[in-house]
Amino acid sequence: MIVLGIESSCDDTSVALVDCSDEGFFVLSEKTASQIAVHKKYGGVVPEVAGRMHAENILPVIEKVLNHKNIKTLKHKNKPFVPDAIAVTAGPGLVTGLVVGVEAAKTLSYLWDVPLVAVNHIAGHAHSVQIGNRTSAIRSLIADSQIQYPALSLIVSGGHTELLLMSDPTTFELIGKTRDDAAGECFDKVGKLLGFDYPGGPKISQFAANGDPRAIQFPRPMLNEEMNFSAKGGPAFGWSFAGLKTAALYWLRDNATNKPKTYHLKPKTLKDFCASFEQAIVDVLVAKTLRAAKGYSPQTIILGGGVSANQKLRSVLTETMHEWNPKSEVRSPKSEYAMDNGAMIAVAGYYLAKKRQFTRWPDIEVDPNWKVY
Ligand code: KG4
Ligand code: ZN
Repeated sequence: MIVLGIESSCDDTSVALVDCSDEGFFVLSEKTASQIAVHKKYGGVVPEVAGRMHAENILPVIEKVLNHKNIKTLKHKNKPFVPDAIAVTAGPGLVTGLVVGVEAAKTLSYLWDVPLVAVNHIAGHAHSVQIGNRTSAIRSLIADSQIQYPALSLIVSGGHTELLLMSDPTTFELIGKTRDDAAGECFDKVGKLLGFDYPGGPKISQFAANGDPRAIQFPRPMLNEEMNFSAKGGPAFGWSFAGLKTAALYWLRDNATNKPKTYHLKPKTLKDFCASFEQAIVDVLVAKTLRAAKGYSPQTIILGGGVSANQKLRSVLTETMHEWNPKSEVRSPKSEYAMDNGAMIAVAGYYLAKKRQFTRWPDIEVDPNWKVY
């Protein structure tokens, strides 16, 4: 089944055509228009600007994907190529962006008479780990990245920090969450204090790579404390990142060589600061995921979302899980699929299409707060 995936929930207009089957997922063609260069002038994503840019970019991006040479070879005789299904992010995210992707998807569904599936962005991040090498034609390589169920999914992005239990590809149960900021947001806010352009997360991890993670003792909020929200009465794993952000601010106030809005540190101190701050986030994320894994014995542990691009988080999570159970299967996306992308929406959409969970184009609605669980 060839699925067209459309993603526009935040600051990337991303479209992909993915050849989907139970054996693996091949990206036939893809294109992303990133808005980071524009939003960094404002220090974060401005919803009105994002909406306008998605509107400007969506058709050129779709056109590029459909005109790729891989697609031209799929055309039969004089019949133009159309995919078997269209998958579009309908939430959660910025309403100004979501409506653009959804309206484009509705139009194509109507025009081509192709079924439409509404995909939750978080489900997309969970399935991003299954996207194969874009040039590889070796199916066995791709089988390695497949998810076995039940799976435990740690989704860490700019807007979300959640632990989800997946009993199958489309069924999610929330078993952990942050009670305030998301981990990516915490990275970005502290990056801003250091004068880094939005998003600050990748820059912090770059400096952290050469610093001492034990140089500064930042707090590990809620390390030994859980929350009380689980509907099924099971444990509810909790995080809090607002306190860590404040601790970082106070440390900078006391130790920076200047006192303006952004704080300046000597090169060695900057690296140590970034490494210690990153370590604090990684420690709490990994501790709760380990606790959840011990409680639920998942077959696969998934790390997804923009923050999954963080190498420290990837390696500490994998090492910790292997120390606990050497047979643990920890999966994270190829780095180009850690950030928002249309391919992950196509993959998540494939499972809905297989179950024929289509939405008629007049009935699809965006939901900025759509919960995957
Ligand atoms: O999933 P995503 O692309 O967008 C949302 O749905 O939010 O995630 C973006 C987030 C940003 O907060 C960014 O700073 C963070 O992912 N991020 C990182 C790294 N790369 C991206 N955070 C820490 N280390 C990284 N290497
Ligand atoms: Zn995302």
